[in-house]
Amino acid sequence: MLRRRVLLLCWLRFCLAWSASPPPQPHLVVVLADDLGWHDVGWHGSSIRTPHLDALGAGGVRLERYYTQPLCTPSRSQLLTGRYQIHTGLQHQIIWPCQPSCVPLDEKLLPELLKEAGYVTHMVGKWHLGMYRKECLPTRRGFDTYFGYLLGSENYYTHERCVPIAAENVTRCALDFRDGENVAAGFENMYSTNIFTQRAIDLISNHKIEKPLFLYLALQSVHEPLQVPEEYMKPYSLIQDEKRRHYAGMVSMMDEAVGNITAALQRYGLWDNTVLVFSTDNGGQTLAGGNNWPLRGRKWTLWEGGVRGAGFVASPLLKQTGVESHELIHISDWLPTLVNLAGGHTNSTKPLDGFDVWKTISEGNPSPRKELLHNIDPMFVDTSPCEYAINRYSFIRSE
Ligand SMILES: *[C@@H]1O[C@H](CO)[C@@H](O)[C@H](O)[C@H]1NC(C)=O
Ligand SMILES: *[C@@H]1O[C@H](CO)[C@@H](O)[C@H](O)[C@H]1NC(C)=O
Ligand SMILES: *[C@@H]1O[C@H](CO)[C@@H](O)[C@H](O)[C@H]1NC(C)=O
Repeated sequence: MLRRRVLLLCWLRFCLAWSASPPPQPHLVVVLADDLGWHDVGWHGSSIRTPHLDALGAGGVRLERYYTQPLCTPSRSQLLTGRYQIHTGLQHQIIWPCQPSCVPLDEKLLPELLKEAGYVTHMVGKWHLGMYRKECLPTRRGFDTYFGYLLGSENYYTHERCVPIAAENVTRCALDFRDGENVAAGFENMYSTNIFTQRAIDLISNHKIEKPLFLYLALQSVHEPLQVPEEYMKPYSLIQDEKRRHYAGMVSMMDEAVGNITAALQRYGLWDNTVLVFSTDNGGQTLAGGNNWPLRGRKWTLWEGGVRGAGFVASPLLKQTGVESHELIHISDWLPTLVNLAGGHTNSTKPLDGFDVWKTISEGNPSPRKELLHNIDPMFVDTSPCEYAINRYSFIRSE
């Protein structure tokens, strides 16, 4: 009798614990394209074909008033810190290869916060947040695994970056490709988008589904150099401009990569509980095949073409789908948004500039963000045309 009562009690307690358990944490996948322009995606009327991205955006929420920074390092730093670059000392351009700089080590990054919330965290692709000390590397900043390159650009096939060394009057090239903290050799003549896609699929297929996954896939596509396997350019033989023709092939290949990755999320049973964010890191580089029409300007500039980003959220967890959001959203908003979705907390970060915009995206609520700061850079004295005025004090407001 006693034994039965104990059994019943245990059974009840189990029921109680079970019914009170929070909803499962969503898998979070952030795909960051490099230098993808406003007019380089199908849903903005581009002649470049992006069927997978179009379909994901059409079945999710397209972000039509979404802003990034005009450059790689600033955008990427804000994505992972949730803070404007004036607060991290990264307001001056990018981190150049020989520059001893990285996101300050006392900043807590998105993967660290998600790890605290119980996530398995992986990064594939471009880091560009500094590498002059081991403490700066992705694997020391919250990622369980890392596979990719640490600088801002390189050859898609050799994975080498060449840098002129002024003091020695020479140009030196070196392999910038890592698996964890080790140099990843043996990938010569393999195009990076294929390698990164395969790594992402391997991570997805090996993921233990009981654990929430954070995958940050920062593709090399579609940054210069303009390189792409011939077959991807074939549909664009009518494009006269050689740069644009290469670029179009690169965009279509990236589109295929995202298609392959979402197919893997479905195949391995993760998709139904996944939030996928797709974003460019800045506007297109019109000098290297990109197109931001009808927005003025390009990457590096504070015109809309430099900072207004192509992006969307796709997820079966969205309450509204098939809509465009015209609410003001900024790349620094992903950190609080994703950490809150994960059931984590941002108590231990420095004061955030980002806002939790999940209800704006998922339910169509007004954005909590009323303005955003592009940059303040008092060090950089600008003598070039105002198009390059990335040093100005510059805000945009929602009204
Ligand atoms: C640098 O090297 C180039 C060719 O390698 C040479 O023509 C040039 O004079 C050199 N410049 C200096 C400052 O030594
Ligand atoms: C996508 O998957 C197909 C089929 O496996 C493969 O042939 C193709 O190379 C993949 N695309 C990319 C960009 O990796
Ligand atoms: C963080 O803040 C939340 C809500 O304010 C609180 O419940 C939680 O205990 C805090 N966590 C830590 C580690 O301070």
